[in-house]
Amino acid sequence: MFNSRVATAIQTIVDEWANVEALTDVGLEPAKTCLIFGEPGTGKTRLALWMARELDMPVVLVRLDGLVSSFLGTTARNIGNLFTFANRHRCILLLDEFDAIAKLRDDPQEVGEIKRVVNALLQNLDARRSIGFTIGITNHPRLLDPAVWRRFEVQLEIPKPDFDVRLEIARHFMTPVTAPDTHLKLIAWFTEDGTGAEIEALVRTYKKAEAVRRERQPGLLHTLQQFATLNSARVNAERRSHLFGDPSMLFRVMRDDPELCFSLADIGEVAGKDKSTISRTLGRRDAREGEKEGVAADG
Ligand SMILES: Nc1ncnc2c1ncn2[C@@H]1O[C@H](COP(=O)(O)OP(=O)(O)O)[C@@H](O)[C@H]1O
Ligand SMILES: [Mg+2]
Repeated sequence: MFNSRVATAIQTIVDEWANVEALTDVGLEPAKTCLIFGEPGTGKTRLALWMARELDMPVVLVRLDGLVSSFLGTTARNIGNLFTFANRHRCILLLDEFDAIAKLRDDPQEVGEIKRVVNALLQNLDARRSIGFTIGITNHPRLLDPAVWRRFEVQLEIPKPDFDVRLEIARHFMTPVTAPDTHLKLIAWFTEDGTGAEIEALVRTYKKAEAVRRERQPGLLHTLQQFATLNSARVNAERRSHLFGDPSMLFRVMRDDPELCFSLADIGEVAGKDKSTISRTLGRRDAREGEKEGVAADG
């Protein structure tokens, strides 16, 4: 579940691999190396595994932070062994947490080691090109050695999901619970700037609340407040302030937000109030705003 530009790019890579023969016939090859980068929780590992499934190829998944050894000199050897193993099979080699290699650089005693490791990587990546598909994944592309970075034919950035994708992700993780559309939309609105992993976590909180309080009002706003409190640093500040502020302001945002465009009934549904209460609350707010504007115009 990605923005359409990214989804198209992914499909292109998958299509190339699914049609290797057709490509070979015209003297071309599919991309052999792909670097996926983006913030933590944007779905990179999930995407790589999905690609492998689409291509119906087994995966050798390696977390490089596990491979970077605290024993001087053994990391380069570990990398060599890993590639030797992967090259024996028709498989996709997935190098997750790729930037772990770069962390060696923080240690001045490791200067020789990082050189050896980078060289081992470059050589092995080059040698593997004729054998199979390699995907590197990193949260910190800037940490990567530029020479390693350049080795990847395809460099795919996974952005944070936009509103429509957030809605899709929320709906996906909601099963088997069926939530009203308004609830899904409000979750997507609330997770502005958030990642797929955060939406998944929020939906989990929502489902738990639903399951526990089956009898009473679902209380979506309460669930969102609870999530915002427990995940303070991860929630968009403006969305958060609306959630904890004056309810009439929140209702107005829900009505006027171009992505939500909630009707009075929609607002009532998420707030657990009837339409006329919402209408009255909003009416008072609009009147107050009107007065203020009037005063400003007079003055
Ligand atoms: N775009 C997305 N679509 C669907 N699920 C997502 C998406 N982004 C993140 N997730 C979910 O969030 C969690 C973390 O995803 P993961 O692939 O491990 O992220 P990353 O490798 O980028 O840190 C997983 O459970 C995954 O299913
Ligand atoms: Mg990952």
